[in-house]
Amino acid sequence: MNKLLALSMVSFACTASPPAEPDPAAIGQIMPASAPPPARTEVVNPRLLRRFKSVHAPDGRQSPEEVARVALGRMLFFDKRLSRDLDLSCNSCHQLDRYGVDHQPTSIGAKGQHGRRNSPTVFHAAGAFTSFWDGRSPDVEDQSKVPIVDPAEMAMADGAAVTATLLAVPGYVAAFHAAFPDATTPVTYDNVGRAIGAFERGLVTPSRWDRFLDGDATALTPDEVAGFKLFADVGCISCHTGELVGGSMFQRAGFVKPWPNQADLGRYEITKVDADKMMFKVPTLRNIAMTAPYFHDGSGATLVDASGRWACTRSMRRSASTRSRRSSRGSGRSPARSRRRTSPRRRCRSPRRRATSSRAQGLVSPTLTTARS
Ligand code: HEC
Ligand code: HEC
Repeated sequence: MNKLLALSMVSFACTASPPAEPDPAAIGQIMPASAPPPARTEVVNPRLLRRFKSVHAPDGRQSPEEVARVALGRMLFFDKRLSRDLDLSCNSCHQLDRYGVDHQPTSIGAKGQHGRRNSPTVFHAAGAFTSFWDGRSPDVEDQSKVPIVDPAEMAMADGAAVTATLLAVPGYVAAFHAAFPDATTPVTYDNVGRAIGAFERGLVTPSRWDRFLDGDATALTPDEVAGFKLFADVGCISCHTGELVGGSMFQRAGFVKPWPNQADLGRYEITKVDADKMMFKVPTLRNIAMTAPYFHDGSGATLVDASGRWACTRSMRRSASTRSRRSSRGSGRSPARSRRRTSPRRRCRSPRRRATSSRAQGLVSPTLTTARS
């Protein structure tokens, strides 16, 4: 099997293909999950799986205040009155029926202008260690306040202009009181961020990958399991790890070969530290099969492209050979032999290296909603 394809199949492990033209009303409907074929599945080393963590839909046990806050956040998320020209809401660039993205290489903001970056999915964004490609915002509550007043996005003049707009809508005043019952003047810009953040914290999409992590070996197809093993073997897991299969560190774009597009220096633009040039947050790979195009600059058109871009990085060679040394201790194989067996260097030269993307469907949630959204 073609290896990059194999990698992308993992992300398909959980897919059910969504309708070609999803209807907004479809939010909340469960898409049919494709039945995985009977397993001939290889066994995966449980030590590898411990690097990941399954997610579950929120349990729905929330106080009335939390319920009101999430409902308010949802209203705000869809409300175009939060943009200067009344034409953009958060959902314009993070469409919840399209896995939280806009499918543009870079997003289109106020006055139809293209921004400089690709819009990441809002699903699972709350679970990442920091917000934005360059980590310039600590969490989704803080992050939500940025696009509303960004002149290239929703372009409101300032937070006061936003609260003035909301105060003019009687329904909102009541909704803010319900969501923030202890506040005498609850309609504040910070509370806008808190409410949207509360809504986004519920944007969690369990997939077959989660069932697999929870012990159901048949949840992934044999091809997807093979894709995962390759994903581990060539070292993708040294960066794409944890609950989000990403979202837990910054790493350099263009680790070996310089990234083709150096217009955006990533984290360096915030810290001005040379070592941060071209450092970007490692994105989550949850639902990755559904969120093309890829990368901060939208330069990866397909999942096979995007996975191939990482297929031979130095860190991957290093981490894969460390792993094979470690695993050789337990298995009784000689380190040299085990290195030879798993050497990603050899894979890199082989045309068959184009195979890792097949794990992608397993990471896709068949449902785009949760009790909280
Ligand atoms: C014009 C398109 C556009 C609009 C409107 C927009 N966003 Fe975004 N969003 C983006 C882009 C582009 C990025 C990446 C920017 C960056 O990293 O510098 C982003 C980043 C984010 C992130 C960080 C995700 C991550 O993985 O780091 C979150 C969360 C988010 N937006 C939520 C929102 C919310 C909430 C709203 C409404 C208040 C909103 N966005 C409005 C385009 C948009
Ligand atoms: C050295 C750390 C590192 C390794 C190893 C790595 N990645 Fe990544 N990956 C990143 C970073 C950083 C980005 C974001 C780059 C950017 O947009 O500038 C990324 C982005 C991606 C994307 C695009 C995600 C999106 O939403 O735009 C995919 C797909 C991807 N990686 C797959 C893989 C696969 C498959 C492997 C193994 C073959 C791999 N990665 C290995 C760090 C890594």
